[in-house]
Amino acid sequence: MIRMLLLLLLLLHSTAAGRPPPAATPRLKLAFPELRARHGLHLFVLERSCCYEALLLDEERGRLFVGAQNHLLSLALDDISQRERKIYWPAPVEWREECNWAGKDITAECMNFMKILHPYNRTHLYACGTGAFHPVCAFVEAGQNAEEPVFKLDPQHIEDGKGKSPYDPQHAAASVLVGEELYSGVATDLMGRDFTIFRSLGQRPSIRTEQHDSRWLNEPKFVAVFWVPESEDPDDDKIYFFFRETAVERQQGLGKTSFARIGQICRNDVGGQRSLVNKWTTFLKARLVCAVPGPDGADTHFDELRDVFLLQTRDKRNPLVYTVFSTSSSIFQGSAICVYTMADIRRAFLGPFAHKEGPNYQWVSYQGRVPYPRPGMCPSKTFGTFGSTKDFPDEVIQFARHHPLMYNPVLPHGQRPLFLQAAMPYTFTRIAVDRVTAADGHYDVLFIGTDVGTVLKVVSVPKESWNHMEPLLLEELQVFQDASPITSLQISSKRQQLYAGSATALAQLPLHRCSAYGKACAECCLARDPYCAWDGTACTRYVPNTKRRFRRQDVRNGDPNVLCSEDPRRGSVPQKQLYGVEGSTAFLECIPKSLQAHVFWTYQRTQDDPQREVQMDERVVQTERGVLLRSVQRADTGLYLCHATEHGFTQLLLQLSLEVIGARQAVGTAPDGDLQLAAGASSRKVWYQDFLQLVERPPLGAADRVCQRLWTRGRPLPPPRAQAGPPGHGQDKEPHRARRRRTHEGPRAERGPRSASPW
Ligand SMILES: *[C@@H]1O[C@H](CO)[C@@H](O)[C@H](O)[C@H]1NC(C)=O
Repeated sequence: MIRMLLLLLLLLHSTAAGRPPPAATPRLKLAFPELRARHGLHLFVLERSCCYEALLLDEERGRLFVGAQNHLLSLALDDISQRERKIYWPAPVEWREECNWAGKDITAECMNFMKILHPYNRTHLYACGTGAFHPVCAFVEAGQNAEEPVFKLDPQHIEDGKGKSPYDPQHAAASVLVGEELYSGVATDLMGRDFTIFRSLGQRPSIRTEQHDSRWLNEPKFVAVFWVPESEDPDDDKIYFFFRETAVERQQGLGKTSFARIGQICRNDVGGQRSLVNKWTTFLKARLVCAVPGPDGADTHFDELRDVFLLQTRDKRNPLVYTVFSTSSSIFQGSAICVYTMADIRRAFLGPFAHKEGPNYQWVSYQGRVPYPRPGMCPSKTFGTFGSTKDFPDEVIQFARHHPLMYNPVLPHGQRPLFLQAAMPYTFTRIAVDRVTAADGHYDVLFIGTDVGTVLKVVSVPKESWNHMEPLLLEELQVFQDASPITSLQISSKRQQLYAGSATALAQLPLHRCSAYGKACAECCLARDPYCAWDGTACTRYVPNTKRRFRRQDVRNGDPNVLCSEDPRRGSVPQKQLYGVEGSTAFLECIPKSLQAHVFWTYQRTQDDPQREVQMDERVVQTERGVLLRSVQRADTGLYLCHATEHGFTQLLLQLSLEVIGARQAVGTAPDGDLQLAAGASSRKVWYQDFLQLVERPPLGAADRVCQRLWTRGRPLPPPRAQAGPPGHGQDKEPHRARRRRTHEGPRAERGPRSASPW
């Protein structure tokens, strides 16, 4: 009874349905239990551990290596819940005690949290952890291939992890391992105040950024590091650092502002000869802008850089840089995805330098002479005759030291975010991108992790041209039961799987669930998922270059009129029979698979009558789940057709035949079997009587108000007229109301809100 009332409340509450939803509505929303039961979601949880932060995907070995609290894990890529291997690597007791004496929490912070995990050589990985505020690193033997089931760490060869892993588990470190050398961006002290971009391991002496110089780094938070070749000559290779920091160029008095940055260094930088010894001589940084024009003309900036994904293209020198941002403003809450090209990034580093004459001056574009070789250029044959950064003239080194910041920012591709969500109850945290080959080209599919344990799947499709991309939010997937923030995301294109880590668990999910889009060609086509195509009988995985005749896919236009005209299922629409009791409420349920579809209903008395659209009014209410007919009439009998319109295409979803039984006839005599009383009550009991009893003694609060509303609508009306017509068709609603009144007649009829009604 209560449940029924709740259902009604819900229905009444959601009467806003029918309007087209805003663009940010996912087409399909799948909850954790459904993904678990039907869509191949696998979970991994290690007892007495947590924080699955470092993920390393190894296609050749077929393993997912994971850094967690006190553990390194090796999981099978095919199913992470099977055949795990693990290394227990706690911090020694003395370190934990020291950590505790320093005022840290022994159980929450004084542990070895694995932060760094990289492939090192053919047989080994390199791993680093916080070691209870005592960073440590080690080589991990992982075998040469999938057949070698080795996974071990040599406890005799544990190294100092300073400048590689952070001390504090709350802090992030970013790094990349290139040619047996580790490039990291991290705090190098216990207090977390001395930040550095640091190169270690390998044969060359360690090298770092200038210390205590806010022009170089100003309270940075490192997000990601990548190695990108610049030309055919490896001497031109660069390492790019992505971070956010307190902006030095912001005018004083305006408070602290966080800016997103991209920093560059040359891989062959070995520091200066007389100054900047063992310091970078090629370090430059530029601001990354991700903003939208605001209503008042001022741009809204997304400055909190949170994650970066480098999407490799055919040209190794020009990957696409996908980034996740959120706002730092308390007024405007939002997250955005911006994409940058290497060409735009390189242009900023070749542009003017930012310059400040003295403490009381503003930052301006440097107009003077720039020494040769231009700071930021790598010593190579491509740009000159310098064999090493040690050969650079002093003038160059001095200029580089004082001008690490570029004047021009890097703007995103298309000058604006590719995708953004504002005023949502979540924030984006991570991104992974898969380039998918479809029938009409390739598409970048974005998997965006949020701080509530969900993954958004977004595809960007060209709107008019390939220069103007439009994001489609295909799916919202709840991959974790506990809504904990997603801290890592990895994609295996080969296995078509997505891996997500959080503080509490690891999840594995296929990249696509084509069958979830529906059983008709039009549904498959409208989904516009580049992974899926209509194969003549079902919506299945699209595999390019296969000679299947009935592959139907159109990601770009998503037009079923063209693609699904010969669909054999087009004519067969599910049919349902519903019985309503005269004067009671009937609910015609019709839920489109797509949350972006707009539903409308038509009515016909018999198959041969013309169809007319059902008009909504106070008796006929459209909800998100169907149509609620209050006070059903005999005249309501007939065929109800539920149609869905999406992307300009209309399809028939359901044909519902409603038969209305007289009230007296229904009491206690409802037949068995397929009889379905309105609102799903299918027992012999006449449910609406229960409901009426409830209404007579309504509970307090919201329910109260709704019931009152129901009552006031059952006000006395003129007697019924003989003429019958489709419900709520605007011609005459009076008969229905009159009948309603009769049904509701009873001791209450003469008192309460009804008699007091102004009508
Ligand atoms: C990989 O590096 C480890 C650690 O330095 C070393 O012991 C091992 O021999 C190396 N393996 C190969 C194949 O070079």
